[in-house]
Amino acid sequence: MKIAVLPGDGIGPEVTAEAVAVLECLALPGLALSEGDVGGAAYHRHGHPLPDETLTMAREADAILFGAVGDPTCDALERHLRPEQAILGLRKHLGLFANLRPARVFAGLEHLSPLRPDIAAGLDMLIVRELTGDVYFGAKGQRTNDAGEREGWDAMSYATSDVRRSAPVALSAAASSGLPLTSVDKANVLETSQLWRDVVIEVAAGYPDVALDHMYVDNAAMQVVSHPERFGVVLTGNLFGDILSDLASACVGSIGLLPSASLGERQTAFGTFGLYEPIHGSAPDIAGEGKANPMATILSAAMMLRHSFGMEAAAARIEGAVGRALADGILGGDLGGTHGTAAIGAAVRARL
Ligand code: IPM
Ligand code: MG
Repeated sequence: MKIAVLPGDGIGPEVTAEAVAVLECLALPGLALSEGDVGGAAYHRHGHPLPDETLTMAREADAILFGAVGDPTCDALERHLRPEQAILGLRKHLGLFANLRPARVFAGLEHLSPLRPDIAAGLDMLIVRELTGDVYFGAKGQRTNDAGEREGWDAMSYATSDVRRSAPVALSAAASSGLPLTSVDKANVLETSQLWRDVVIEVAAGYPDVALDHMYVDNAAMQVVSHPERFGVVLTGNLFGDILSDLASACVGSIGLLPSASLGERQTAFGTFGLYEPIHGSAPDIAGEGKANPMATILSAAMMLRHSFGMEAAAARIEGAVGRALADGILGGDLGGTHGTAAIGAAVRARL
């Protein structure tokens, strides 16, 4: 069971090390870890944010554990050399079109949310974000317009096939959990969204038991913070999913708590090939200080065990240990506590 560990930039290496330590602590037979360079770290060492050897290692692995990318010293580089291209390139090259971002307020930890506790208690949603299309991957550029002004432009589009393969991921999750499905778009303004909505309705016809509704993204943002209990599974495009998942994470209490799984169609001998990463970024302002909360990455490792290796019991064990650590007041600075990266990792391992 080959795992490619790609720590990346900023706090990426610190949080990834704690997730790896958790995996080692479980002493699961058959796991083989190897490490590769990505992001700004890879650019500085190899001249490219996603070197060929890293891409090859990722392709040959059964799962990828990813830290974070983003490095302010690379801000002036041409876009194709910037650290973010490493994660965008991995998602695209590996066909990881479905991004699962579960966001829930841990029972008893409603006070960590900036929302009123009675509202926060209702937050338990799974965001399914399309990950390889939309305005992220369309043509883009800068030009001089007719008025002689500098103009930036990015093309937003979805093809029918993009929606046809993403919608079933959310529909199946809704069907198996009995939760309602909300498809989020901006069909009142965007043709991309009208196509999205039409195809979601068409695909949903094959899931008669799923309660499906559609919501404009601006309203969805408002509902997440005012009536989070209305959401079960949320299906949305790449850009809206990026924004709504950060919003949901803030409502949980911290972006340092949200894991993610990026899946495609490829099956390995052990499960679904996937990439697992915290939804937060590289946080260069606190990098190297041992302050980052590794829980999101540890929870991402749990998702990896579940989806890529069929190890449900081990995944649940990790999630239980994180939940108990939080309940016991093991809180990082992001949650108003004083525990550092290593202390949080050790506390989770002690509870395994
Ligand atoms: C995320 C991140 C990435 C994204 C960045 C780092 C390119 O914000 O995974 O949510 O926008 O998808
Ligand atoms: Mg994001």
